[in-house]
Amino acid sequence: MKRHLTTIQLSTAAAAGAVALCCACGPQRAAEEIAVIPQPARIVEGEGTIRWVADSVRTAIDTSLRNPEAYRLTVADGRMEVVGGGDAGIFYGLQTLEQLKDSAGYVPAVTIEDAPRFPWRGAHLDVSRHFFPKDFIKRYIDILAYHKLNTFHWHLTDGIGWRLAIDRYPLLARKAAWRKVKDPLAPWIGLELSDESRRDSTDTYGGYYTEADIREIVDYARARHITVIPEIEMPGHSEAATFAYPQFACPTAKPGSGIYCPGNDSTFLFLQEIIDRVVELFPDSPYIHIGGDEVGKEQWSGCPLCQARKQAEGLKDEHELQSYFVHRMEKYINGKGKRMIGYDEILEGGLAPNATVMSWTGFEGGVRAANAGHDAVMVPLDYVYFDHYQSQNPCEPQGWGGYNGVPRVYAFDPLRPEVAADKRHHILGGQANIWTENIRTPEHVEYMLLPRLAALSEALWTDTTAKDWLRFERKLDRQYDRYAARGWHYAESAFTPYIAEQHFNDDGALVIRLATEVALHPIRYTLDGSMPTAEAPVYADSIVITEPSTLTAVTFRRGKPAGCVLSSPRLLNPATGAKVTYAYPYHSAYTGGGDSALVDNRYAFKRGDDPAWQGFEGTNLDVTLDLGSVWRLEGVWMRFLQHIGSTSVMLPTRLKVWTSADGKRYTEAADVAVEQDSTSEVIIRPLEIRFGQAAEARFVRIEATNRGILPEGHPRAGSPAWIFADEIAVY
Ligand code: ACM
Ligand code: ZN
Repeated sequence: MKRHLTTIQLSTAAAAGAVALCCACGPQRAAEEIAVIPQPARIVEGEGTIRWVADSVRTAIDTSLRNPEAYRLTVADGRMEVVGGGDAGIFYGLQTLEQLKDSAGYVPAVTIEDAPRFPWRGAHLDVSRHFFPKDFIKRYIDILAYHKLNTFHWHLTDGIGWRLAIDRYPLLARKAAWRKVKDPLAPWIGLELSDESRRDSTDTYGGYYTEADIREIVDYARARHITVIPEIEMPGHSEAATFAYPQFACPTAKPGSGIYCPGNDSTFLFLQEIIDRVVELFPDSPYIHIGGDEVGKEQWSGCPLCQARKQAEGLKDEHELQSYFVHRMEKYINGKGKRMIGYDEILEGGLAPNATVMSWTGFEGGVRAANAGHDAVMVPLDYVYFDHYQSQNPCEPQGWGGYNGVPRVYAFDPLRPEVAADKRHHILGGQANIWTENIRTPEHVEYMLLPRLAALSEALWTDTTAKDWLRFERKLDRQYDRYAARGWHYAESAFTPYIAEQHFNDDGALVIRLATEVALHPIRYTLDGSMPTAEAPVYADSIVITEPSTLTAVTFRRGKPAGCVLSSPRLLNPATGAKVTYAYPYHSAYTGGGDSALVDNRYAFKRGDDPAWQGFEGTNLDVTLDLGSVWRLEGVWMRFLQHIGSTSVMLPTRLKVWTSADGKRYTEAADVAVEQDSTSEVIIRPLEIRFGQAAEARFVRIEATNRGILPEGHPRAGSPAWIFADEIAVY
């Protein structure tokens, strides 16, 4: 239903500010929900609509609103007016108006009074692990502003690359560590980078911002009421810097060790010079972020300068040495009129006197800081790390850590009950963090950002009493269209079906319940392995599977598939529910759920921490299935996980299969080498082994050969490889 049936266009001679008048007497406009994200504090709907044409909005500042980010928006009686507590409030009122406008430019009559819950509403971006060009940074800022965020935390330096050009230290940005570590696994894998990946490496690992670039971006952000918080990591995560200038690392450390030496005064002089430049380049930021996270302190233990410093300063351990480092930098930063912020590890060994804590490992650091009278920003990885997966479907691009879907982000509340009532003002807010180890392109950043940023914006802007998940879901549907209209890439993962629950009923049928994070649209499915069409059955309460089937399910939004396809192959095959005996036990920490794990029709996801994987440490997987009766079998199908990047889980090297009708005499049915894959990414490898000839069998023995001791160059060299399997089907 169109909203603007009741409007009359006025001439351009209309009073300044309003050029269209809504007629109050016509039929009521269609009761389309006001879908503003983040949800405003108070909405009073009027009747009718007004056409928005350029320059038709009257704006004013009213300091009695007290919060400069607050605004009052009035669309009524032929006028559109935004009154802000400050310029930022006007900006946010206009953002709201932008969302109220329909595709033909009509805005419903409405009065909105609005103000943010938290003063720190941010998003971070790691431009070290992969570099993102200036124009994309501007686009990123546009996206933040559209969601009424006011803080861009720019992670400018880290292990791989230092991205801020500093005249005095030209090697920082040019001789960055990425040249050394383009692919840390390449030597072990014996892999020559292909021309394509080499080009990719050079394009996205290399790069830096000139001082002019920085000024341009800071100005751009300012115009959108966004403060850019620069981060210069110290004392750890500094491989790029210590590779270029090894004199600032411990003399006992290897080049590129990545940790500054707090025993050496010249380290501090160097970092102070960097801070001087950063203070000049980021005049708007009240903060300098110094990182401070994940500092492995072993190098300090073996360094004579560090040990001398400890002695001279009466420091009892390396935590106190870290604290000395951070305090000393804070003093310098405070002397420049700036506040210091760092990750929660800066609490170790005693918090610097004026420091603000960015709490990433959980809420605890932020709570402790706030209760001790320090400001804190909450960025707990389990809620707002946007490098985590958006769904458990294997379609998701390689992520990091856990699974933070849209509902998880929406549930984020920076203010914890453990914070004392008189300390709550110290919780400044929160932000999303996007680490880019696995994110190489701007499109991928946007995919990780949207629509989770919509959920985050509501979590940070809107009072908890005004949050409403069901309404948010409906609004999100409109938000996708807004993203599409702007050409922004976004994830439809929230539509991807997943198996919420499954069990075998008393008749031996498999009962499956599906769900989606955002449940606005029908899921359609097939059981024959074909892709569901717009005519396929719509999922209702459950699916009851009584014969061998492959379940394929996908959400249809406006008649088209949205999100990824759920595929659950070979359900109820002859191996389902078979008795499994193990020649070598599975590991007690990776049982997959026990003896039935390989034949329970419950498929593990593309992450090693999915408890459905069954793990074998250093041994073969060698199992015999008793199918209960004799079947005519043509092959075996199973799936393995591999994740070289950060685990010892490797594909097996061979698969052998024997069959037997009686459980005594076994005949070899197949013996194949498994093609190896050297990627550092997580992969699930399904393997289908067709027998040379069909076998009459009740018993099937499968042996998957373990890779053995991991060789030199593997991140876990010298330790035994694991096999992770799930699941086994026969056919
Ligand atoms: C962090 O994620 N290491 C702050
Ligand atoms: Zn040292």
